Amino acid sequence: MKLKVLNHPLIDFYMTMLRSKDTQSSKFRFLAKKVTSLMAFEIFKDLKVLPKTIETPLDKHNGVTLNNQKPCIISILRAGLIMSEGITDVFDEVSIGHIGMYRDENTLKPINYVKKLPSDLNNRQCFLCDPMLATGGSAISAIKTLKQHCASDIKLVCLLASDPGIKKVHDNFPDVKIICAQKDDKLNENGFILPGLGDAGDRIFET
Ligand code: PRP
Repeated sequence: MKLKVLNHPLIDFYMTMLRSKDTQSSKFRFLAKKVTSLMAFEIFKDLKVLPKTIETPLDKHNGVTLNNQKPCIISILRAGLIMSEGITDVFDEVSIGHIGMYRDENTLKPINYVKKLPSDLNNRQCFLCDPMLATGGSAISAIKTLKQHCASDIKLVCLLASDPGIKKVHDNFPDVKIICAQKDDKLNENGFILPGLGDAGDRIFET
C-alpha cells in the first residue's frame, strides 16, 4: 500500500476545524500540530528498532531500542515547520532537515531557496513533511533533492493531499509511500486543493 489516509474520527474532527475559514491563525497552528502529533502513530509504524533486553523491578523484559541511525524529519518550508513540531512533540529522537521552496503563483512551479539536510540520508528513514500536496510539484522537487542526497527510504507526510498530487508523486516515484490525514479529489484552476483548507503557509504564519 503506497497510500495511507488516516481515517480516524479524532483526526476528522480536528481537520474539520482546521479547514474552516472561521479558524484563526493561532488555532490553525494548534490544530495542524495536533493532527500531525496524532499521525505519529502511523508515521512511525515501521520505525526501525533493535531488540533490547532490560530488567523490570521483577523480571527480564525483551524490549526494543532505536538503531544507530536516527530517522530524519525533513520539512518543506515554510508550512512544513509546523509538522516537524507536531512530530517532535511526541518523538524527539530525530534529525531535522529543511528544504525551502515556494510555488510561483503564475507557473505553479516550485522555486528553491534553501536546503539544509542531515548527513547519511542513505542509511536513514526519511519523512518528508508538508501540510499540502496539491499539484505535487513541490513534493516531487523535494523528493528529487533527497534522492540526490542518496535517500532511499522516503515517506511523504501531509495533512491534506489531492488525488492529482498523489498520482503525480506515484507516477514519478512509485517507491514513495504517502501518509495523509485526509485527501480531496480536485484542484481549482489556481492549483489549490478543493475544498481544501486554503493556503496553509499563510494561515499558519498569518501572512
Ligand atoms: C504550499 C504547500 C506546499 C505547496 C503545495 O506551499 O505548503 O509546499 O504549496 O503545492 P504543490 O503540490 O502544487 O507544489 P507554498 O508554495 O504556498 O509556500 P509556503 O509554505 O511558504 O506558504
